[in-house]
Amino acid sequence: HRTAAVIPAAGRGLRLGPGAPKALRALSGTPMLVHAVRAMTRSRSVSLVVVVAPPDGADEVRRLLDEHTAPSETSDVLVVPGGETRQDSVRLGLAALPDDVDSVLVHDAARPLVPVETVDAVAAAVREGAPAVVPALPVADTVKEVRVRDDGGPEPVTGTPERSRLRAVQTPQGFELKVLAAAHAQVAREGDGATDDAGMVERLGVEVVVVPGHDEAFKVTRPLDLVLAEAVLARRRA
Ligand code: C5P
Repeated sequence: HRTAAVIPAAGRGLRLGPGAPKALRALSGTPMLVHAVRAMTRSRSVSLVVVVAPPDGADEVRRLLDEHTAPSETSDVLVVPGGETRQDSVRLGLAALPDDVDSVLVHDAARPLVPVETVDAVAAAVREGAPAVVPALPVADTVKEVRVRDDGGPEPVTGTPERSRLRAVQTPQGFELKVLAAAHAQVAREGDGATDDAGMVERLGVEVVVVPGHDEAFKVTRPLDLVLAEAVLARRRA
């Protein structure tokens, strides 16, 4: 039984403002991606990490990882070039897994501070037989559904889902490898706009279960998230 982690890190990170691809931007002097890789290698359940780099940045990413991680840590980190969309990038990461891997965690480079306990909990749930597992938290905000307008005008509200039944989903998301590979193969045929891997698995009719997520597994998306990430790191050092 072997679990690998795939880290899609090929996004441009446009919402974060101008600059390097998001995964390569520094948090307390260390690229976000390096934090994310360490978060995976720290888990004893993960024996191999595949980093999916920006399509033209695989060499740079390899260099950064060699520079920032100890040799024993890097020995089990592969780097492959990514694709146009997150789905393409994950698919390319899955294609690089050796045959003896039977379960996989997919973790956003943009969630660099996920605690090892969360990684372990997801991996354990998969090992105990769940085909698909997501870490998630209750939502603080009330969430509205709207009719999207592209002209900048006020968007009419079309519904308010009951908040107590909503969960905000994080990563790593854990899967039996053959289930996730089947989901990606189906989406490659049909195409769709899934924003996470579990969403694709749900469409196969496979049950996805939730384990508790963690506040520190938040996604670094907007500039304010960088402030929060630096504060979390400062608190960990204290
Ligand atoms: O854009 P979003 O925040 O959903 O991206 C989530 C993760 O997917 C990030 O770690 C990003 O680097 C990755 N991604 C990718 N390939 C793309 C687009 C996004 O690996 N083409």
